[in-house]
Amino acid sequence: MYQLLKQEGRARRGIFTTVDGVFQTPAFMNVATAAAIKGGISALDLQELHCQIMLCNTYHLHVRPGDEIVKGQGGLKGFTRWPGPTLTDSGGFQVFSLASLRTIREEGVTFQSHVDGRRIFMGPEESMRIQSNLGSTIAMAFDECISNPAEYEYTKRSIARTTRWLERCKAEMTHLNTLPDTVNPRQLLFGINQGATYDDLRIEHMKAIADLDLDGYAIGGLAVGEETGIMYHIIEQIEPFMPKEKIRYLMGVGTPSNIIEGVWRGVDLFDCVMPSRNARHGHLFTWNGVINLNNAKYQSDSSPIEEGCGCPVCQSYSRAYIRHLLKAGEMLGMRLAVQHNLYFYNTLMEQIRAALDDGRFAQFRDEYSERLSKRI
Ligand code: GUN
Ligand code: ZN
Repeated sequence: MYQLLKQEGRARRGIFTTVDGVFQTPAFMNVATAAAIKGGISALDLQELHCQIMLCNTYHLHVRPGDEIVKGQGGLKGFTRWPGPTLTDSGGFQVFSLASLRTIREEGVTFQSHVDGRRIFMGPEESMRIQSNLGSTIAMAFDECISNPAEYEYTKRSIARTTRWLERCKAEMTHLNTLPDTVNPRQLLFGINQGATYDDLRIEHMKAIADLDLDGYAIGGLAVGEETGIMYHIIEQIEPFMPKEKIRYLMGVGTPSNIIEGVWRGVDLFDCVMPSRNARHGHLFTWNGVINLNNAKYQSDSSPIEEGCGCPVCQSYSRAYIRHLLKAGEMLGMRLAVQHNLYFYNTLMEQIRAALDDGRFAQFRDEYSERLSKRI
C-alpha cells in the first residue's frame, strides 16, 4: 500500500508497505535479471549497498531454471535469500526485446527462447502463473512494449489489446492468490501504461487502466528509441491521470539525471541496468559526474573511486587497483565497480528523499540534475 507523505510541486515523498517489508520512495530497484545482480553481487551485499527492493525477470527465470524450480525453493525469497520486497517484470518487454520469431495474437505471444531456441507461448495467464510461482511481492502486467517510433494505427490497436490483457492479468492474479499452495497469497499487481509517443493514446490508455484499481501504475514503452525530451513530455502528459493514491513506476529508467527529472515529474519508482552495466565497462558514478577508469590518467591513481563515498569499496581500494582488475578481466574488478555504482544509485535516492523531506528538492535538482550525468 502506498502512502503519500509529502509533495513538492509534482514530486512525491512516500512509503510503500508490503508483506515482505517497507520501502521508502522515491526508490530505485536493483536489477537481478536472472535472480542475481550481474558482477557477482549477493543478497547479503545488497543489504550493505542500501538496496530496498530487487527486480527479477519472468522471461529469464521461466526459460532457465524454470519457475517451478524456483517455487520449489520457496520462491525468489528462498532461492536468492534476499529478504526484502521483490518485483518481477512480466516478460512483456523481454519477449519483445530478446526473443526471436515472435508472433503476437489476442491470446498472447509465441516466441523462440534465446537460450535453446525452444518455442514458448506466453500470454497474460501464463505470465501471472510464472510470477505467482516466483512469488514476487509485486507482479507486473503482461503488456506489449512498442518500440519508438511507432505507427499511430498500430499503437491504437496495441494499447486496446494491452488493456484486455490487463483485465485477464487481474482476473488470473486474483484467482492465483486464493490457491492453497501459492507462494505469496498477497501478491500485488501493477498495470503498465503504453501508447508510444502519442499524447492522446497515452492518456486514453492511462484512463482505461486507472479504472481497474490496481496496486500501482507503471509507465512503459519509454527509453526505447525516443529522445529524452519526448520521454519527459509523455510523463508530464499522463501524470495528471495517474491515481494520486497509487505508486508510480517508470520502467527501465535511467541515468541519475533521468531519475531526478522523473521524480520532478511525479514518479516514485525506477529500475535500470545502467549502474551495473556501466560499472562492468569501467564507468563509475560520482557526485561530480561519471569517471571512466579505462582512462590512462587513473593508472597510478591511489585515491578511492570517490573521496568520502560510504560504500564498502571506497573504504579500501584505489582507482589504480580497480582499473587494473578490470583491464585484466578479473571478476573482482567487476564486483567492486558494481558495488560502488549500486551504492551510488541507492544513496542518490536517499539524498532525493532527504531533499523532499526538507522541501529543497527544486534546489537539489538545480545542483545535480546535469552534473551527475556529465563525463569528467
Ligand atoms: N521495461 C522497460 N520498459 C518496459 C515496458 O514497456 N514493459 C515491460 N513489461 N517492461 C519494461
Ligand atoms: Zn564508493
